[in-house]
Amino acid sequence: MSTPWGTPDQERDTWTGQYPPLDVHGIYPWSILDTRTTEWKNRRKFWDETIEDGTKGRDNTLYAHGKSGYHTSINGGRSAFDPVLTELMYTWYAPPHAHVYDPCAGGITRGAIAHELGHTYTGVDINDLQIAANRVLGPNDATWICGDGTKQHVKPQSQDMVLTCPPYHNVEKYTDHPRDLSRMTWDEHLDALAEAMEQCYTALRDDRYMVWVTGDLRDSKGHLRGLHHHTASIITDAGFHLVNEHVLINAVGTRHRMLRRWWSPTRSAGRLHQHVIVAVKGDRRRAADTVRRQPHC
Ligand SMILES: C[S@@+](CC[C@H](N)C(=O)[O-])C[C@H]1O[C@@H](n2cnc3c(N)ncnc32)[C@H](O)[C@@H]1O
Repeated sequence: MSTPWGTPDQERDTWTGQYPPLDVHGIYPWSILDTRTTEWKNRRKFWDETIEDGTKGRDNTLYAHGKSGYHTSINGGRSAFDPVLTELMYTWYAPPHAHVYDPCAGGITRGAIAHELGHTYTGVDINDLQIAANRVLGPNDATWICGDGTKQHVKPQSQDMVLTCPPYHNVEKYTDHPRDLSRMTWDEHLDALAEAMEQCYTALRDDRYMVWVTGDLRDSKGHLRGLHHHTASIITDAGFHLVNEHVLINAVGTRHRMLRRWWSPTRSAGRLHQHVIVAVKGDRRRAADTVRRQPHC
């Protein structure tokens, strides 16, 4: 059967004639991904128990510093990447046994889950302490490179997926390195993102996906800076085609303490979401064909 949206019969299992499930442990590929659901929380618990230090990957010396120390005082400054989001992105967008490239690696989460799902991972981070910690805590088959993610670190056309989460400009500050994306001016930051994007495009094979996680922020006057809009433009300028934007909804958690401070003086709503931008290099149907369902673990 062929439909205007594709040929779903290609998805059928050759032997059983069955369609593979669309969901990953009850989580479906909608444009909204809600971390507050029971399914998400259950899976999060699984990964927290499965990967030793996998959702942390940062020791005390690696905490980022939020503006005015607020972030630090709320959750110890730790912003670990969500392991469930990582699993979903690999399952939906990576071919089997993929080489995954990550120009702003942060902690070990994306490397550790790549390992668990049978992928190999190369993570670059400008923070030498972070890379040293990752080499100890992360999987043996991951490659951790201390360097600037805006430069070339892997051979052109050698990677099957990009999954990354660069700094949301200066929301968290990481190092004093002049090339740290969180230390740059806004304009320098956007230029550096464009450089990193070009490297990702060069690194990827044709017909492969890139997943870029980002979030918006406010400038020094409190006006909204739509980093995800800028990022989408930078992505297409580099030659990618946009495929999806998943909005990742986070729990309120301890943020409710800050809501009045944000809202009362300027009507700044508390932000509870991030943006997961998915793009393709090459042909989106051929890219989908390269992705086969990986077995649930
Ligand atoms: C948003 S954080 C990652 C946080 C993420 N939640 C995690 O821990 O997995 C972005 C990372 O980018 C790194 N970074 C900043 N500028 C960079 C650059 N020019 N090249 C590579 N990494 C950079 C920071 O050191 C930080 O670890």
